[in-house]
Amino acid sequence: MKKISAILLAVVLFMSTCAFADTLIMGTNAAFPPYEFYEDGVIVGIDAEIAAAICEKLGYDLEILDMDFGGLISAVASGKIDFAMAGMTKTPEREQSVNFTVTYATGVQSIIVPENSPITCLDDLYAENAGYKIGVQQGTTGDIYCTDDFGPDNVLQFLTGADAVAALVVGKVDCVIIDNNPAKAFVDANEGLKLLETDYSEEEYAIAIALDNTELLSRIDAALEELIADGTIAEIVAYYIPVEE
Ligand code: ARG
Repeated sequence: MKKISAILLAVVLFMSTCAFADTLIMGTNAAFPPYEFYEDGVIVGIDAEIAAAICEKLGYDLEILDMDFGGLISAVASGKIDFAMAGMTKTPEREQSVNFTVTYATGVQSIIVPENSPITCLDDLYAENAGYKIGVQQGTTGDIYCTDDFGPDNVLQFLTGADAVAALVVGKVDCVIIDNNPAKAFVDANEGLKLLETDYSEEEYAIAIALDNTELLSRIDAALEELIADGTIAEIVAYYIPVEE
């Protein structure tokens, strides 16, 4: 009898820890394949899976909130979300408002153009009187660098990368500048587009955490480093970005 109640107690305790496991809220902008995108109504991708692996290691449940990219840093800073993971580049400006973990991936800005575009390389955008209209996702590094280099009149900002690409497809912009892996995914998903590789801004992706939440920062850093060392991150990346033969 005693044994049964001990087992029952253990089961109840186990269930209550499951039900009440702390949840970490991740903010992202889920129109950025292969890092975050919807599949059958669920947010999947490299970032979603790495976040799940981190939470599993640290004993948290994970909840993912989809929001505007431009709102992520302030959502982290105000504590509305516990961390932002969105193929987000570590920049000195953002580091004024949040802390970043170790880097888990790198990216480089690429140009998407229609197949028959007169734009053949980055330099074409700088040519005198070029005046090309460049589509970007609002608040991203692509937006910030293009606005600096080509002036606000030549840069059209869209709420998501997918919206910028949709504008390119219907000819509202002449090209889209966005991180290389999403650029590849958008080109694969849309007829008549091609990718121009560039070395325009090489960037490091990291997870953003509130400046005062240094405890979470060190726990997530430790988990990330283990997942990098044991090959889990490489496995997740290889699943979403198969190496071309
Ligand atoms: N790497 C770029 C940046 O940090 C673009 C990231 C956009 N991410 C997204 N999930 N939409 O600004």
